[in-house]
Amino acid sequence: MAHDWKMFDRRLGMFVHWGIYSVAGRHEQIQWRERIPRSEYARLAEGFAAGRFDPDRLVAIAESADAEYIVCTAKHHDGFCMWDTATTDFKVTNTPARRDVLAELAAACHRRGMKLGLYFSNPDWHHPCAFNPISTHQIAPEPGDTPDMGRYAEYSKAQLTELLTRYGEIVCLFWDIPTHVARPDMDALARRLQPGIMINDRGWDNKDDCDYSTPERDWQWDVQPEKPVEACDSVGAVAWGYREREDYRSAGYLARRIDRFLAGGANYILNIGPKADGTVPDEASALMAAVGGWKRRVGEAFRGVETAAGVVAPESGILCTRRGDTLYLHFPDGLDRSGVDLFPLAALPRRATLLNTGTPLKTELFVHPDRLLKGGETSLHVWGIPTAAVADECAVVRLDFRPAVLSTALRGASTTAPGG
Ligand code: GLC
Repeated sequence: MAHDWKMFDRRLGMFVHWGIYSVAGRHEQIQWRERIPRSEYARLAEGFAAGRFDPDRLVAIAESADAEYIVCTAKHHDGFCMWDTATTDFKVTNTPARRDVLAELAAACHRRGMKLGLYFSNPDWHHPCAFNPISTHQIAPEPGDTPDMGRYAEYSKAQLTELLTRYGEIVCLFWDIPTHVARPDMDALARRLQPGIMINDRGWDNKDDCDYSTPERDWQWDVQPEKPVEACDSVGAVAWGYREREDYRSAGYLARRIDRFLAGGANYILNIGPKADGTVPDEASALMAAVGGWKRRVGEAFRGVETAAGVVAPESGILCTRRGDTLYLHFPDGLDRSGVDLFPLAALPRRATLLNTGTPLKTELFVHPDRLLKGGETSLHVWGIPTAAVADECAVVRLDFRPAVLSTALRGASTTAPGG
């Protein structure tokens, strides 16, 4: 299927988890994890006022992170709907907020040229038919419930139809928690209503037919996945929804994680959890701005580049991206020294620059003392990196070569690389 918008052109997105769980401010899954009865949980809606919600401000936070799309929770596991649905009363327009916050966010996104995708949970802890024991994140039925996944699928389809017809262009559908029930009509409906939509791998038994996979949190990238990847994590290490006593990530950790995925050719969405009044915790917006500050300075190393470009220093953890005669070195493991031996790459660039600061770096062709007694091969040494200046971000070095020098050197490097 052709997509107008290239979601997988190494893009960063902002994930938003917002719902009535933000009223409690502990975690988005407290109904399940704290065993709160459904009717008691539903009363959180009475505290959801969204009085200071400004959709433009939310989009501006995404812009500050240099994010190019937003993925927002339309319905999380609690079944609460963040739009003015006709399918249930358990919705945002029945809270003191009395606003269709999703409609407002969509309008702000469209107005400002921000792309919008929607998160939609398969578990629904409010609907009497939704119990699905072959999946996870399930709450046992309450008296009077009538588990029936066929009927629940119809309910979800009615909701999806609203979401994908009323709010303009929706670029991706982030299903959550695979159902393990085969219903190809679910994705088919989404694709019919939004022909350009990208659909993730957590749907109704859709692993084979989905467009992308969604590893989350501290996933280690050691096998090449079959589908394009959009990794996700949150500025909060504990919860996705607003948590009053959250343990926030450090800016350096986030930049290094984001770099690893973008330099590897994947997308990445970084989550924030707005409070019940609609504002975003200061710690969260500061982290988004820090990520954006870094990404804007090194961003050329992600745009229109070849990823995983050539092997240099295979043991070093350095990732490379490349555009023509320019090679970018990424240090997602951080820098443990102020210079690097790029063996087996043995060509001198005409210029080396630390993109984070614009600092020119020193280069030489040398024989590392450890190789003096073992073959004595020459390699490129880049040194004089101001490590303190990049301690809270991810270092990216730009090497500019004269025409054709890099291609020749990389060909040579791949034949002399250890084991190669
Ligand atoms: C997990 C959690 C959920 C969160 C999601 C984000 O599936 O259950 O709370 O929304 O990850 O990817």
